[in-house]
Amino acid sequence: MNLKKITSKIEKDGYTIIKRAFSKKKINFILDLVKKEHTKIKFKYKGLPKRDSSDLIVYNLQNKNYEFLRILSNPLIQKVCKYFLNDNFFRLIKKDKPNFILNYYNARSSGNKLDLHIDSYMPYLGKKIFLMQFAIILEDQFSNNGCTILKPKSHLSGKFTNRNEKKLKKIKSHAGDIVIWDSRIWHGTEKNTSKKTRWSLIATFSSWWVKQSMDMTKSLPKKIFNKLSINEKILLGYCSIIPRDETGAIRTKRSLNEISYNLQDYYK
Ligand SMILES: [Fe+2]
Repeated sequence: MNLKKITSKIEKDGYTIIKRAFSKKKINFILDLVKKEHTKIKFKYKGLPKRDSSDLIVYNLQNKNYEFLRILSNPLIQKVCKYFLNDNFFRLIKKDKPNFILNYYNARSSGNKLDLHIDSYMPYLGKKIFLMQFAIILEDQFSNNGCTILKPKSHLSGKFTNRNEKKLKKIKSHAGDIVIWDSRIWHGTEKNTSKKTRWSLIATFSSWWVKQSMDMTKSLPKKIFNKLSINEKILLGYCSIIPRDETGAIRTKRSLNEISYNLQDYYK
């Protein structure tokens, strides 16, 4: 699938599936890492909604293992994000570089049915996308293990979801596929009745000025920061740091020269 086909389908229908984007070997390697990370979680997440109580979730993959970031440098993921989310007037970073950010990054295997919702918080009309989701499928997803359901073209409805909507499409996918959606699309999941997991990585990307769902620049372990490429540092938000006040800096945008693990100068 070429870039034009992918972006046109997302613009028209609000979602697309890229088949076989990753090899079985790569996917099994990542699936093992996810399962290992999940066994390490020894506490209950605060504020977890009841509907998510039977879901298995590993939050903040970027802080767990560099491999979770490396998989996001897949050229198609990068090109699609750049096409939709890049700010052409960022100016402090040259135009050929990405300036979009990773907004939220978790692994998930759902249990309960998830009602229709939008991920963009607010519905709005227009061509511009500020927030989008990429699900890297680690285990096949079918009707009986709770695959994603969505209403094609609803990203352009300008409305919140109608949870009684019946005309929905089941998104069946295989390990190695990437399912991409415009965050405005009406979507949810069916109940997982299979008693088996259906892990996927869910990476939310956004334009640099959308508030990140986790404070990635402040929580990233130094040993992972040291492995990052320039583009990965931009991706995690190191070129869009909110200063505490004017004594640290007077703008949120940063140039490549201002990237630093030590953020003290922005917050002093
Ligand atoms: Fe969602």
